[in-house]
Amino acid sequence: MESDILNSRLKDKVAVITGGNSGIGLATAQRFVAEGAYVFITGRRRGELDSAVKQIGGNNISGVQGDVSNMADLDRLYGVVGEQKGRIDILFANAGVKSSAAHLERKNEYYYR
Ligand SMILES: NC(=O)c1ccc[n+]([C@@H]2O[C@H](COP(=O)([O-])OP(=O)(O)OC[C@H]3O[C@@H](n4cnc5c(N)ncnc54)[C@H](OP(=O)(O)O)[C@@H]3O)[C@@H](O)[C@H]2O)c1
Repeated sequence: MESDILNSRLKDKVAVITGGNSGIGLATAQRFVAEGAYVFITGRRRGELDSAVKQIGGNNISGVQGDVSNMADLDRLYGVVGEQKGRIDILFANAGVKSSAAHLERKNEYYYR
């Protein structure tokens, strides 16, 4: 009973997760699909995107290749989602790169004020 509620709490929601082909974005996409959402994931690497879509599986996942720092790619993403689903209920702006902790060590206390 409790798992039924959990598995359907995102039923009919449309989610867009940028940077969904690995790490936190991929794990979130898997979870959202398991909870009933239709999910669009993005990423720059076509191969990784296709693998992620395959890994998640089912009919509630799509990959849209693109770079979030490129306005034309964002417009295309918005167009694809609009055309296929007509709305976005959940937007997870997750795309980004890990930064090395090494550069943090070079910052002093004034940086954090
Ligand atoms: N993991 C941590 O401990 C941690 C801590 C603090 C914050 N974060 C933030 O959480 C987010 C996810 O982290 P993660 O550890 O899951 O990283 P990750 O495994 O490296 O995943 C990053 C995702 O973002 C995509 N991406 C990167 N730049 C992009 C761009 N310009 N346009 C579109 N997609 C892009 C990558 O795919 P492509 O390379 O194919 O584009 C990939 O799918 C990042 O924003 C990161 O800065 C992570």
